[in-house]
Amino acid sequence: MNQVSARSSGRRTTPPRLRAALASITTGLVAVGTTVVLAASASAGTTLGAAAAETGRYFGTAVAVNRLSDSGYVGILNREFTSVTADNEMKWDATEPSPNQFTYTSGDKLVSHAEANGMRVRGHALAWHQQQPRWTAVLSGTALRNAMLNHVTQVATHYRGRIHAWNVVNEAFADGGSGGRRDSNLQRTGDDWIEAAFRAARAADPGATLCYNDYYIEGQNPKSNGVYAMVRDFKARGVPIDCVGFQSHFTAQSPVPADYQANLQRFVDLGVEVQITELDIEGSGSSQAASYSRVVRACLAISRCTGITVSGIRDTDSWRSSATPLLFDGNGTKKPAYASTLDALNAGGTTVPPTTPSTTTPPPTTTPPPTTTPPPTTTPPPGDGDCAASVSVNSWSGGFVATVKVTAGPAGLDGWVVDLTLPSGATVTAVWSAQNTGTSGDVSFRNLGYNSAVGAGAGTEFGFQGTGNGPTGAATCARP
Ligand code: XIL
Repeated sequence: MNQVSARSSGRRTTPPRLRAALASITTGLVAVGTTVVLAASASAGTTLGAAAAETGRYFGTAVAVNRLSDSGYVGILNREFTSVTADNEMKWDATEPSPNQFTYTSGDKLVSHAEANGMRVRGHALAWHQQQPRWTAVLSGTALRNAMLNHVTQVATHYRGRIHAWNVVNEAFADGGSGGRRDSNLQRTGDDWIEAAFRAARAADPGATLCYNDYYIEGQNPKSNGVYAMVRDFKARGVPIDCVGFQSHFTAQSPVPADYQANLQRFVDLGVEVQITELDIEGSGSSQAASYSRVVRACLAISRCTGITVSGIRDTDSWRSSATPLLFDGNGTKKPAYASTLDALNAGGTTVPPTTPSTTTPPPTTTPPPTTTPPPTTTPPPGDGDCAASVSVNSWSGGFVATVKVTAGPAGLDGWVVDLTLPSGATVTAVWSAQNTGTSGDVSFRNLGYNSAVGAGAGTEFGFQGTGNGPTGAATCARP
């Protein structure tokens, strides 16, 4: 029995095609008691997108902007797909080639193409250890953390309201059996880098569904257990995560796991939606077709599995083309896997439930341009002789990142407290390398265990992020 709702997930406005499909579903509805069921099966979709829309889901593909000049490619894209994911165009190296200098030309083209054709856009990816711009290579610690948060904020602000789901953090867990985080420059800025990225993304685009995205988490294994524990912890502590993306790159050695559906379900049970984000399956013929069908059926069995994205259109478009992992061959001809995917979509399943309304205020209708002016710096006060604090603020319309340098006096420090005052309306949303007391007005920041000791004349840094305007007055530093 299918639960039916008239709204789709993950977006505040419903695209025209989806609206049409949903309308066709709702005309076939009969109310039985308090449960709404399909009276008869809705008409079969003749394309992937239309068939997925019958259950309120999107069917998307990764798109490389340079392929938009290939009419064969675009013909299939516009006919079959209802969501696009930027292949490389929204990655850090593409969008911020120099510090705080943003380039959106390619990403904007993809978004415009999608919008002109009634498709949604998945954003990929705000923070990732790969495909970073070269200038990040010399950064570490607070400087890298600030650069990452600024990046997340600026890019999510630029695309605010136009992205139905963002991969906020990509591939942060280690392969192998540890179940722990992957070592990376971002990880070395502190374990809280992932939650800081999610908070920054939520502040910048409150309407987007925020996803953690990874590979080899499709079945239950040490890596997916690690991600599961993180999501459970985030949900318990109110870190704004909405979704987990399962890349789903399958090969002969790593086929669709037997517990795929059960594993998706256990994540949903934590209170997030799940999405299949980069599906491709090595192989050909009927075995490949059967695997695609299994993936689609697993998603459709779960009402909060809200959409499927394949990692390209034709085998020749694939990042691993020798595996012939996609639904169309190099000529754009439908493969057996296309037919099995369409059939599985048309077989129906659960219907995506209504979106939970965002508790945060909606974004303004006009997107303010991000500021690219250099951060103002407040000069340190003389201090009490024990230590001094200087604050530099990088702000944009609606938010800021502050970096605070604590400098020890001639006696050195074995602990420090920095006090400052935030302007009215400002709120601290994330803090790193310090512990705060208060989030608005007078706020106090105290050392953690590892950075309590500061040698005579030496310094240490901490940072925080907030909404509203950043601090403009002096910060004071003292021993605890
Ligand atoms: C791939 C792109 O498809 C290629 O064009 C690029 O050269 C490398 O990255 N996981 C991801 C994707 O999250 O962004 C990657 O995409 C494939 C692995």
